[in-house]
Order: sequence, then C-alpha cells, then structure tokens
Amino acid sequence: MSKQKRRILVTSALPYANGAIHLGHMLEYIQTDIWARFQRAQGHECYFAWADDAHGTPIMLRAQSEGIAPEELIDRMNTEHQQDFLDFGLKFDNYATTHGEANRECVETIYKRLEDGGYVERRTISQFYDEQKGMFLPDRFIRGTCPKCKTEDQYGDSCESCGSTYSPTDLIDPHSAISGTAPVMRDSEHYFVRLSEFEDRLHSWMTSGVLQPEVVNKMQEWFNDGLRDWDISRDEPYFGFKIPGTDDKYFYVWVDAPVGYMASFKELADRTGLDFDEWWKPDTDTELYNFIGKDIVYFHTLFWPAMLMGADFRWPTAVYAHGFLTVDGSKMSKSRGTFIRARTYLDHLNPDYLRYYFCARLGAGMADIDLSLDDFVSRVNSDMVGKVVNIASRCAGFIQRGSNGQLAEELPEPGLYQQFLDQREHIASDFEQRNYQSAIRRIMALADEGNRYINEHKPWQLNKQEGQQQTVQAICTQGINLFRVLMTYLAPVVPFTAVSAAEFLGVDLDQWSELDQPMLNVSIQSFKPLMTRVDPLKIKSMIEDSKENLQSTGKATVPKLDLADEITIEEFLKVDLRIAKIINAQQVPEADKLLELTLDIGGETRKVFAGIKSAYEPSDLIGRHTVMVANLKPRKMRFGVSQGMVLAAGPGGSDLYILGPDQGAVPGMRVT
Ligand code: 2FM
Ligand code: ZN
Repeated sequence: MSKQKRRILVTSALPYANGAIHLGHMLEYIQTDIWARFQRAQGHECYFAWADDAHGTPIMLRAQSEGIAPEELIDRMNTEHQQDFLDFGLKFDNYATTHGEANRECVETIYKRLEDGGYVERRTISQFYDEQKGMFLPDRFIRGTCPKCKTEDQYGDSCESCGSTYSPTDLIDPHSAISGTAPVMRDSEHYFVRLSEFEDRLHSWMTSGVLQPEVVNKMQEWFNDGLRDWDISRDEPYFGFKIPGTDDKYFYVWVDAPVGYMASFKELADRTGLDFDEWWKPDTDTELYNFIGKDIVYFHTLFWPAMLMGADFRWPTAVYAHGFLTVDGSKMSKSRGTFIRARTYLDHLNPDYLRYYFCARLGAGMADIDLSLDDFVSRVNSDMVGKVVNIASRCAGFIQRGSNGQLAEELPEPGLYQQFLDQREHIASDFEQRNYQSAIRRIMALADEGNRYINEHKPWQLNKQEGQQQTVQAICTQGINLFRVLMTYLAPVVPFTAVSAAEFLGVDLDQWSELDQPMLNVSIQSFKPLMTRVDPLKIKSMIEDSKENLQSTGKATVPKLDLADEITIEEFLKVDLRIAKIINAQQVPEADKLLELTLDIGGETRKVFAGIKSAYEPSDLIGRHTVMVANLKPRKMRFGVSQGMVLAAGPGGSDLYILGPDQGAVPGMRVT
C-alpha cells in the first residue's frame, strides 16, 4: 500500500510564561502529540513546533511582584514547561519563546506587509488609566459593579454572574485591580488592523471544510455582527516587542503569540536546513494544523488567518478546537485538590496512564472532557493492563522457557492476524479525524479477540502435556504477534510503554506499514511488566499534594478590614434574614460561578442562584442550614429568577464559606 508522503506542521496553543502547566493544558498537548506521532507512524514528515507565550501585562506584573526582570521569569518558566512536556512524552521538534529573535523577525515582516498593504490604521482612543501605577488598564485588570445585574467585583469586559458583556466604561464604580484606585480616562493613539478587509477571504477559508461545524457557526455570528477593527497596539509599560517606527508602542500579545508558531518553525528550519519559504508560501502543498482550546477560537479563526492573508503567507489547513477539562464532573478546584499540576501528576503517576485515558475520551468535537478519577483507574487497569499487556505476559514465559525465546516459523492462524490488519485503515482514519475514542474502541475490541484466542487455546494446559511444545510455541507466537499489532496502533498514545514493548519484541513499533510482515522465527527478550496497575492510593496522594500547593501559595489570607459605611439599626432591620434549609442544590452548566439552590424557609421554598460553585459540590450542601436574605428583590438572571441571597464569607473562588446557624435553629426563623 503506497501512500503519498505528506508534509505536516502541527502546533498546540502556546502556554503563557507566567504559570505552571496543569492537566487542563495537558489535554490539548496530549491530543496534539498523539496526532503528530500518528502522522509520523504513517510515514509522513511531521513536525511539532511550539513555544512559550512570553508577552503581555500579566507576565510583566508577575515579574514585578517577584522582583525580577521579565526575561528571568520567562526563562525559568520555559525550562520548567519543557521539562514537564518531555516527562509527559511530548515529542516536539522545537520549543521557542515568543520573546525570541525569530519571532521578532516574523512579527516585523508581517506587520510591514500589513502596513504596506494598507490594512493598518491609527486613531486615538480613550481608555481607563491607573494614575498611581502609571499604566493603561487591560479590561481584565478593571473591576467594578455589573451595570446590568449589579453584582459587585466583576471584570471590565463581562459579568460572571449574569453573563452580559460590556465596555469597561459601563461598569459602576470601576477600580483598578492593581492599585485599587479609581482609574481616569486618558487618550492615546492606537494601531488597528481593518479586519473587514479580509471578510471575503476569511469567509471562503472557513467554508472550505477547514473548521469544525460549531466553529463555523460561531464565525457566522461574528460575520453577522460585522468584523470590528482589531486593536494591535499597547502603550508603555508593557512587556513585548516595540512596533517598528515607534518609541512607546508595543504589539499586543495576541499579535505575536500565533506568529510564535511560525517563528518556532523558523528556528527549526534554520537548525535543520528545512526550507522555511517552501512551508509558508501561499500555494504550498505542506499542511499546517493548529490545535487549540475552544476559548481562543476567535484569535485563531479571525486574527491569525487575517494576518497570514494580509502578509501573503499560507493559511492554516485546519484549526482544531477541543473542550475544557473537568475533574470528577466539576471545574478543577484548588480547595478540592483537583487543580492538578503536570509536575504533581508526574510525581505520582505514569504519564502513559493519562495519555491513554485522555485518548480514550477524546472525540473530534468541542465537548468538555471529564477526568473521572475512578473511571481513570478502572479504564487504565482493565484496558491497558488487563487486556493489552496481558496478552504479552500470558505468552512470553512459554516462549522464553519452552522455546528459548524463539518465535515459531509460521502463524497458526494467519486469518486472525489479517483480521487485526484489516482494522488498520479504520483506526488510522479515526486518528486522522481526531476521533480517538473510536480508535481506542476498535483497538480494545481487537485486544478482546486476542485474549479470546489465548483463552480458547490454553497454552498453560498444553504446556503440561508431553509433545505439545510446538503447539504451545505456535499459539504464543500468534499471541505475541497480535500484541505487536496492538502496541503499534497504541504507540502514538503510550510512547513510554511502546519503547519497553519494542525492547521486549526486538522490533521498532513506529511504522504501521511494518505490520505487513508478522514476526516469525526471531527471538524476543525476556518479559518485564510493561505497565503496572494504577494504584488508587497514589491518586489520593496526588490530590493531597495538589491541596498543599494551594496552602503554599498563601490561601485564606484575611484582608485588612475595610469597613462599609455605618448604618442605623432601623436600616439594618430592613434586611429580613432567615434560617433556610438547602433542600436541593444543582449545577448551572452554563454558569462559571453559580449553583442553583432550593431553600426551605419554613412553609415556603425559594430558588436562589449562589456564586459558590468553585467552593462546594452540590451534593455536600443538600440538607444543610444556612442564612438567607429573604426580602431581597427578585433578580432576573440569565438562567432564571433568583429569589434571595445566601450569606457566605471569604474572598471568593474556592475560598468561600456559607454561614450556618447553631443547632436548634429551624427554617423560617428570623435572624436578628
Ligand atoms: O490562551 C492562552 O493560553 C494563550 N497563551 C494561547 C496562545 S496560542 C497562540 F496564539 F500562541
Ligand atoms: Zn451582571
């Protein structure tokens, strides 16, 4: 079967250089790495070029808070990130930083071409400025009260409580999240790319089958609203690249971040002699795939292709977005210990376990993926250890002891071997389309067949009988060959196990085409356990260690008292506080922070949306007593009407504690 050799470049989103890698990141990186390894296993030329995303305000501020230069911070992070990735078996061909010279060169080239093409325009805009800190404030660094639902302490661009989006100037009582002071409006000149000029090209690109249907729908909405000009400049102080020809304007981080894909490839090309232009010219037959999370689709399907189009470079062959990771059905939580860093995972567990589990759960769409820890243990143990590795461990000893490690000269059941090979194209097509869960289902169905074959032929019984040595050797040769096929299909998924399996078999497992020839009349090495069962105690320790991470970062800091204005007792008595029993609690899937509570306040039930999702599991709340504001005017929210408010203490996020009465208080009692 001869196939056209493809030339493929894949990328994962670039992690920010101001934080540790966690399992949410790993979902995407593992998805990308499996795909790249799979392509190489088909004999294609495939590179994985990647980098740290090193620019922007949060990185500048983090370095300031550590009292170091941003360069020092991003160097340290780069080393840590790469080590995490190598230990997870991610096989990237180059790892750059967007602060590198190759990226500066690429960004400047793109910018110059956009400017020459007449796509860049300057105009003065007015924005919030923090006078104490001496800087313009990005939306995320402005907090205030939501203009729609009046929830306090919301971001400058959207409300996490009611979901509305707005401009920072609409916020009530805005203040800087950095200094806490009220910002002032200040003018400055900004550079814009006129995205509308790319509308036709973007439209034909997006409808040419390069995007998932749900992404195309989303883009269609953006087109319907009209593409707004894209603000590509930021004022000093900023950590980034200066815009050529200016003294005090920087490229916005989202300009040079995706260009980092190109720059990383450029470093690779410079190092290895690949022809950069050949890969990035508009009519190239090389392929470019960007794997990303669903939260950054906008940047990758509008800004990034528009930059490439305007600068006369090739466009992505496809952009593949995936969903978010939840752990045990909920958002990762630091207090519950489910916000697990890559390094903490590696301290306890084999990276191939997670690679296998994610693979078994991933499909081609943007659905969220749940890492259910019980399911993780049972899937890995039953599939990888109980089915796949089991075939080898059941056969290896008989070949070693009875036949001196030598496999038979022919397969007793070539039809069964062929049946395994017949699945190759289907499995390949599943991997190609990122339908990994389907590929795994097919591979595990074959593993069941392999085990069935051994169960039926019972080499352990024949081995006890005189004169059956050849038959035992033949059966086990069949088993070892089936194992080899399975491990070859799984090699992109579990690379560490595949390396050990290759040592045991004495053959490489990295080209699927080599399966055409079964392994016959050759010797194998002695068998060592290729993968041991997941130990649930190690999961427990990992969760405990993830909780410790939180403590070491200074959890539960008590803020300095900043008391509200005085009120009279009469004013206080206007607030009707009641004891409430939580009779039901459930998730509000579309809301980041909210749980829906049903409260019994003595002969009346109330539905209340409470912003305590990160702090509590719904099931832990049911049956508890708390205190609610019973005469709060009902508030219409995106998910329904909230008929009151429960009282909780703490700064927010997972650090929130609902108030409860002492024993004896019953629903409906007034709190005075
Ligand atoms: O969202 C993020 O984490 C960004 N650092 C991703 C950048 S992807 C690419 F554009 F560089
Ligand atoms: Zn709101």
